[in-house]
Amino acid sequence: MHYPEGATPLDPDEMEGLRFRHVTTREQLDELEQANIQSGLLWLARQRRTDKLTDAFAIALHKRLFGDVWHWAGAFRRTEKNIGIDPLRIGVELRILMDDARYWLAHETFAPLEAAMRLHHRLVWIHPFPNGNGRHARIMADIMMQQQKAAAINWTGGHDLQRIGPRRQAYIAALRAADTGDMAPLLAFAAAG
Ligand SMILES: Nc1ncnc2c1ncn2[C@@H]1O[C@H](COP(=O)(O)OP(=O)(O)O)[C@@H](O)[C@H]1O
Ligand SMILES: [Mg+2]
Repeated sequence: MHYPEGATPLDPDEMEGLRFRHVTTREQLDELEQANIQSGLLWLARQRRTDKLTDAFAIALHKRLFGDVWHWAGAFRRTEKNIGIDPLRIGVELRILMDDARYWLAHETFAPLEAAMRLHHRLVWIHPFPNGNGRHARIMADIMMQQQKAAAINWTGGHDLQRIGPRRQAYIAALRAADTGDMAPLLAFAAAG
């Protein structure tokens, strides 16, 4: 099979659950996902509910962001990945995390950015879904900033975080530091965006 120059073919396991049969390249998939995310963000902007920091809302949001493209959107991961906790613990850990997040806001446990980045880090650490966890968890952190009336996080710093490059390297390194309990690099990353 021939692919356009610069286009990356999808792995068979990535194709599973794809709602579009004609997609053959990473670039086509990126476009479909990006369009889905845009419509998910429009849905999010229309939500007037104040109870967005719940496990149910996190699941509903993932479905809105990725459900036009993937059958498994909004459904928990069932298999082990190189990132993420034991899939059997996802439901419990997500519930605890969202309870913690609401507690942090109610009691002003952390400064707004730290609260949002702690939510972000623990969400990708749980890795609830088969894919889209990074993008979903960044939007959840954005929601947490909005709820605290704090300025938006500049995640990309003018770069594409989905692509390999210094910005993504700094982001992944900061997440790894947060895995060991050191939040400083992740806060510096978000503040420098
Ligand atoms: N060591 C790591 N390497 C790569 N990504 C990591 C790592 N630790 C955490 N992550 C997070 O996982 C995300 C990748 O998971 P994935 O489900 O593919 O999300 P997405 O498809 O939105 O990028 C990254 O964006 C990042 O937020
Ligand atoms: Mg991915």
